[in-house]
Amino acid sequence: MTMNRMSSVGNCSLELRDIGHQFTDHPLFSELNFTARPGDVTAVVGPSGTGKSTLLSIMAGWLKPSSGAVVKTSIESTGWVFQNPLGSPLRTACDHVVLPLLGKGLRRAEAENLALELLETFNLLHVADRQFRVLSGGEAARLMLARAAALAPDLLMIDEPTAQLDMATAATVNAVISRIGQSGSIVFVATHDVSTREACTRVLDLAKFQSGRLAGAGHLGGAGKPAKAGSFMRRGKKLRGARP
Ligand SMILES: Nc1ncnc2c1ncn2[C@@H]1O[C@H](COP(=O)(O)OP(=O)(O)OP(=O)(O)O)[C@@H](O)[C@H]1O
Ligand SMILES: [Mg+2]
Repeated sequence: MTMNRMSSVGNCSLELRDIGHQFTDHPLFSELNFTARPGDVTAVVGPSGTGKSTLLSIMAGWLKPSSGAVVKTSIESTGWVFQNPLGSPLRTACDHVVLPLLGKGLRRAEAENLALELLETFNLLHVADRQFRVLSGGEAARLMLARAAALAPDLLMIDEPTAQLDMATAATVNAVISRIGQSGSIVFVATHDVSTREACTRVLDLAKFQSGRLAGAGHLGGAGKPAKAGSFMRRGKKLRGARP
């Protein structure tokens, strides 16, 4: 990586070509075709066990599909936000966002300022100095999203971000996911939550790719797109690869 490397924002794409997968004799899904581009926030939906998490793993490159190909163009970094928030218990919330920024080459003061701006956007400023172990479930979930925004990956996988949250807390997480859509990242969100689905701009329904049925991917009109977090992620993308 070189200093001030130009970001690939806008040129990335992820294409699923005739993807199929099976762990047993029974196919999970097949003939799945879908292309995602920067700014797309795609809800991956379907009943439990239809393969949502499996598809995220295939797209991330962790799992080889039984058939078809994942074609990635200019995707250099992939981020994950797992269902169960995974943090360092004794580190503060702020540290969780500062550390990836330091890893990108920002000076500490700059990283801390940007981290605090991000925490404010994700409604976490009041817990900035609290240790991860004392955060509530919703705070921890939002922190994982804030950290992902700081990392600003080309491709971001989010698995069931609201599964363990009450409705009010889930609503704040959904609002944040909607904002991440402005980032220029390609985002996939596996979810059962109708509200999360509505916060996305596209939907990929795995139930429609069972037994070889085609289609099932489409655009959702008019999903909310508040802009703030996106600007942070774009800044992060410009910084990606920088050295101090
Ligand atoms: N490594 C594996 N080996 C064998 N079977 C697996 C493996 N991983 C997942 N499965 C099975 O594949 C199916 C799809 O799993 P997956 O976790 O992708 O579903 P999901 O749609 O994410 O479900 P949920 O909504 O419950 O999270 C399940 O029946 C699961 O038991
Ligand atoms: Mg799953």
